Amino acid sequence: MRHRLAIVGLAPLALAGALVVLVTARPGHADPAGPAPTSTAVAAQQLVSGQPLAQPPVVRSKNGVLRLRLEAAKGQARVAGRMLDDFITYNGSFPAPTLVIEPGDRIELEIVNRLEHETNMHTHGLHVDPTGIADNVLRLMQPGTTSRTVIDVPKGHEQGTYWYHPHHHGHTDEQVYGGLAGALLVGDPLRPFPTLRGVRKQLMLLQGVQLADDQTRLVPEGSSPNTETLLVNGQLRPVVSMRPGEVQLWRLANISNDHFYRIRLAGHRLRVLAQDGNTLDRLWTTDTILLAPAQRADVLVRAGKQGTFVLEQVPYDQGNKFGRADLLTLRVSGERVRHERTFPRTLQPLKLLEGEPDAERTLTFTEVDGDPGFLINGEAFDHNRVSELVKLGHLQEWTLVNPSDEDHPFHLHTNDFVVTKVNGKPVPIRGYQDTALVLRSGGTTTIRFVAEDFLGKAVYHCHILFHEDHGMMGVVEWIGRNGERSTTPCPDCSEPSPDAHAGHGT
Ligand code: C2O
Ligand code: CU
Ligand code: CU
Repeated sequence: MRHRLAIVGLAPLALAGALVVLVTARPGHADPAGPAPTSTAVAAQQLVSGQPLAQPPVVRSKNGVLRLRLEAAKGQARVAGRMLDDFITYNGSFPAPTLVIEPGDRIELEIVNRLEHETNMHTHGLHVDPTGIADNVLRLMQPGTTSRTVIDVPKGHEQGTYWYHPHHHGHTDEQVYGGLAGALLVGDPLRPFPTLRGVRKQLMLLQGVQLADDQTRLVPEGSSPNTETLLVNGQLRPVVSMRPGEVQLWRLANISNDHFYRIRLAGHRLRVLAQDGNTLDRLWTTDTILLAPAQRADVLVRAGKQGTFVLEQVPYDQGNKFGRADLLTLRVSGERVRHERTFPRTLQPLKLLEGEPDAERTLTFTEVDGDPGFLINGEAFDHNRVSELVKLGHLQEWTLVNPSDEDHPFHLHTNDFVVTKVNGKPVPIRGYQDTALVLRSGGTTTIRFVAEDFLGKAVYHCHILFHEDHGMMGVVEWIGRNGERSTTPCPDCSEPSPDAHAGHGT
């Protein structure tokens, strides 16, 4: 319960919410036509469920540049078919618009801050410059200001599913939870595979929100996991229709602030093509996947026989217990597709990063009473302290240790890594990731990576955003092979005065 500290006073409300969710999430109510009205579910009747899955609005790059003005403001948003209050959105859209670019493109954003607190911009998982006005999360975009973010995405960038969200320490949780989060799609991960040409892609952005009892507005984070309304692209239990034998690519992204999804599709196996935007070495076939906050999985689904199947969250005990819930309905109907697609045997070769590491580090994630209560190696985040210096070209091995009583999803900016061991035992390496779980109660996760380019400061942190905001983050600085440092100035990283700093992040 630690990451929902804010809640103690809200227990009655949380209980009331739990009743509603239990009623609306019962398997019997997976009927896409919507549940029959019952007196116990009165409040929930206002939300619309069972509509065809819609895709968030798309903004594409043109001639190599994606230009977009993003206005962050609190207000109404269309959620589950209704206009609800107190969401925090970019341009009024929940989820935020999907940005679609190609490797080698430039992203040029104009960010208008109409919020009461500072904000900034992060492109989660992109391998790009973390300094200046690029993917720099140490910037401060003050309320009432307009700032530019310009990010050049390398030509050889991995093609896949990424996302973007603000990252101002102290306000990230509230802003992402409120709705400042959207997908960022780079290229087309199916492009290299001739047998998958023309496969339909469905983006599925997973967000958990706590609604007031009357379902008219978002309430600040503070409930238990099981009282959240679980949305897919801002819809409640939407429906995907497929023909028997049809193959689709489902691009699942957990852009929730703190919800863990252990996912299963009734009657179907999941063929994972990519995780965190990185194509795996071969398809990984599994019945369930666990998506911790910030993680993505691009999954090939081949529809079986006619029928109705639920994409569900099955119970997962992260320390907080996430219960069973329906996310979406797959309706398989019509005639069987004429030619069965074959799946590629291998996807892409993997750089394994074997041998003696050049540097070994241990990061220990702990929770203590008080604020900041979430620490890495006994320290809370301080943007003035560089905790880890990492040389380009050096093989890094980091061991992440979690003595606390809940799982922490560890995320590293700028450079992706492979997970080599979990709880001390070697695990099969399927691909690179940007976020990895560190299991609770003494769990360890060992990662390896080599930073090849980009100098400057970036961060690593727990992606339960309440934890990040309350200390569980550190600064890493990428330095050159001979110790060179980035000299790119940051226009709006101006040091807050010591007094201002004392109150920062609380
Ligand atoms: Cu999704 Cu440090 O970010
Ligand atoms: Cu990130
Ligand atoms: Cu955490």
